[in-house]
Amino acid sequence: MNAIQESKGSNPRCAHADGIHAEPRGRYSRLFARPAKPVPRDQEDKLVELGEAMRYEVEREGTLTPRVGYTYFGQFLGHDLTHDTTPLEGPYAAPERTPNYRTPSFDLDHIYGGGPEKSPFLYEGEEGAETFKIGATTPTGYHRDLPVVHGMVLIGDLQDTRNLDNLILRQLHVVFLKFHNEAIRQLGAHPPTISGVENLGPGTLFERAQRLVRWHYQWIIRHDFLPRVVDTRVWNYQERRTPCPPTLKESYSVPIEFSLAAFRFGHSMVRNAYRLNCRTKRVLIGELMALGQKTSPIPDDYLIEWGTFFDGLPTSGPQASSNYIDTSVSMAMHGLSPGTIRLSNKRELPDPSNLPVRTLLRGARAQLPSGQEVAEALLAQGRIRPDDCLTSSRLVQDTCDHSGSVLREIGLGQNTPLFYYLLKEAELAAGGLGLGPVGSHIVSEVIQSALEADPDGYMSLAGSKWKLPSWRFPGGSSRPINSLIGIIQLVGDDKLLPECDAHWRRFLAYPPT
Ligand code: HEM
Repeated sequence: MNAIQESKGSNPRCAHADGIHAEPRGRYSRLFARPAKPVPRDQEDKLVELGEAMRYEVEREGTLTPRVGYTYFGQFLGHDLTHDTTPLEGPYAAPERTPNYRTPSFDLDHIYGGGPEKSPFLYEGEEGAETFKIGATTPTGYHRDLPVVHGMVLIGDLQDTRNLDNLILRQLHVVFLKFHNEAIRQLGAHPPTISGVENLGPGTLFERAQRLVRWHYQWIIRHDFLPRVVDTRVWNYQERRTPCPPTLKESYSVPIEFSLAAFRFGHSMVRNAYRLNCRTKRVLIGELMALGQKTSPIPDDYLIEWGTFFDGLPTSGPQASSNYIDTSVSMAMHGLSPGTIRLSNKRELPDPSNLPVRTLLRGARAQLPSGQEVAEALLAQGRIRPDDCLTSSRLVQDTCDHSGSVLREIGLGQNTPLFYYLLKEAELAAGGLGLGPVGSHIVSEVIQSALEADPDGYMSLAGSKWKLPSWRFPGGSSRPINSLIGIIQLVGDDKLLPECDAHWRRFLAYPPT
């Protein structure tokens, strides 16, 4: 018996220290050809200049952009699909030989770890009906944190601690742990308090609950998240397209155009500061990162009031939306701490600490095609229209920052890094409210393919028109869960701190006229 197996209930310190020795769960692929004119290493200072210019003078927070909760749900699902530990310095193998330490499916392997057998330190309860251990905040003890044992945070497979990146993500992770626990409770009740689960298939209570949680999560990615960030025209196309061929099943690999550029669009949605609740009305994102990574329980004052992060939940203050999706990235992302950078790879060098610069350098070193090459390929496939392709004169415009001028000065206006092109496209084609046509194609194509290719996912086993089961909610009502807020309500994490709750109730009694 190794340290991890011994650990169940008794010795989590050994469990955490040992960890699961991560094995690659997949590899990567390319959607498009290599670039005709890659930026060589001796010209990378151009990319550094461009990345450094991708910042606001004055922050522009949207009101019609997705609510801030979707920023972090995006980060959460990105961490589920891709974990590339290639050091920024390289060497860069071909994508087909580059390990992905996450399964290329939306199966929540970053929260389930190796399951109760391989990651027993995460679980408690009877064999076959295991629930996640949940940690408590301090000093009151709200069950809203990851378990912290002997100064260690028990999370996922321990080699991948990226969900500790910030306090928002850490608490969103907990929502999913509690969702699993609720699924165990409702499926295991006599009689079950959930109906419409006949097509869940066989297995232990744990396996059925896990499948139910994964299916809801997948459904929500497709119906709650994607339509908020991708172009409607593109999304309608994805809904109608022929499903990916069965040969792709179990062998799907994440394209690097998605992991190294397109899905990093979320970096531009991050705001400088957030309101968490009525006690903590403004916290800088840098502080939220430091707090998320702390190996001590979350203080009560930092409990997230999800009603500020999503519509439709109780809240003691206004809802907040993400930053515009454009070429400007929050100042905090221009100087990440070594701790943040090392969440992905413990041996990574902390420099450069500028995230847009890292993304541009990585894209060039991994030989991503330029934005123009991708747009031309999609045009040739009939996926976009000629006027969807950005001209260099539009790309070098200065809009929200001075990065357009820099792009012109460094001579990349016609051979534009994909990451930059897609953010500029979001700004010019979608007003910064979502992705433009090229970005939408990459993001929706990859997400839809990953969903279809998952042999254990709802698209394969229940079909794309899966009828959502009906759950018993805390107030006693029964209804399906068709959004993230449904999950938050189900697990009771829509509850507010006492004085915030009082504030909300006063507001309900006397709304402003
Ligand atoms: C405070 C918020 C965030 C921080 C501090 C952060 C930080 C990072 C860092 C340090 C990397 C590795 C960079 C490199 O070495 O190339 C990374 C990668 C990545 N980020 Fe973020 N990120 C944040 C939010 C987001 C959001 C909101 C999304 C998407 C909606 C996102 C998507 C990604 C993706 C897809 C990768 C590549 C992952 C991989 O393939 O291993 N991130 N992020």
